[in-house]
Amino acid sequence: MSVSATDILPADAAGIARAARLLAAGRLVAFGTETVFGLGADATNATAVAAIFAAKGRPHFNPLICHYADAESAWSDVVPSEIALRLAAAFWPGPLTLVLPRRATSHVALLAGAGLDTLAVRVPQPASARALAAALARPIAAPSANRSGQVSPTSAAHVMASLGGRIDAILDSGACPVGLESAILDLTGGHPALLRAGGLPIEAIEACIGPVGRPISQAQAEAPRTLRSPGLMVSHYAPDLPVRLAAHHVDASEALLAFGPALPGAGLTFELSPAGDLTQAASRLFEGLRQLDEEGTRRGLVRIAAMPVPTRGLGLAINDRLARAAAPRST
Ligand code: TXA
Ligand code: MG
Repeated sequence: MSVSATDILPADAAGIARAARLLAAGRLVAFGTETVFGLGADATNATAVAAIFAAKGRPHFNPLICHYADAESAWSDVVPSEIALRLAAAFWPGPLTLVLPRRATSHVALLAGAGLDTLAVRVPQPASARALAAALARPIAAPSANRSGQVSPTSAAHVMASLGGRIDAILDSGACPVGLESAILDLTGGHPALLRAGGLPIEAIEACIGPVGRPISQAQAEAPRTLRSPGLMVSHYAPDLPVRLAAHHVDASEALLAFGPALPGAGLTFELSPAGDLTQAASRLFEGLRQLDEEGTRRGLVRIAAMPVPTRGLGLAINDRLARAAAPRST
């Protein structure tokens, strides 16, 4: 992604319209929320979502939060439980993210949800952020607008210092009033569970819906998945078929995940990027794993063989995800 100058757009009607046009064209726009600035892309555009990870320099693909203009729009991508409806009525727009089952009809790119059957959704408080999602008429996928390993930005100047020159524009709605990421509540299990403590206090959540499960430690609250071994990571999609890495040959009993020119002889092949483009490969990774897993299982193939992917740029995150997919399972 070669972006020369990053425009700072005022959060007025003209600025919002311009930001929405950029997002619709697959570009990256940082925007202010009440918590921290988000690095936004059209959530339904897998290539644009891949560009988020490239701009952040993230070595792994975290699932991203989808931002909506209102609760009704969010419910078109996820199935709200009765508790979700109650929380949304009480706290949206506001600093609460809900993890819910993804609808089969959702057009959100698989990469945005890291291939999971669930999606994290929220309705941000600032009118400009909601107007942006409304103008785009699609969800905005957005992690915090900082390079990987840096602290979350709470002003346009922070975003500029971290990502200036790497993104197209910043919609500047002023300093973020909460200044702390949203609280994330998982509503997909038997009991609501807090995955990340955040801008909405747990006491407020519990006053609304009763006791919720808490993260075991603050470290886990901040990085819910990194402390668990890959086989236990509930929030990572794992194929049913075993995965063999760094394949330099393949046979008819295997489903091939190809990068660059595909190896001959596989029982089934999915091409991540025939030209060897890492952004294209990232945008197709979860789709590829799912297709090979489902179709390969149907055809009685024994495993997925993944061709080597270079470890530069997004290749690092692709390799991280493949290594997790190939790790021994505990179940
Ligand atoms: O306040 C916020 O939440 C900000 C603003 C921009 O909205 N966003 C933010 O995004 O903090 P990020 O990417 O830095 O953190 C998102 C967290 C990650 O820890 C991710 O693992 C979790 O949300 N997450 C997203 N989708 C999930 C899912 N389907 N299941 C479990 N966790 C999920
Ligand atoms: Mg972050």
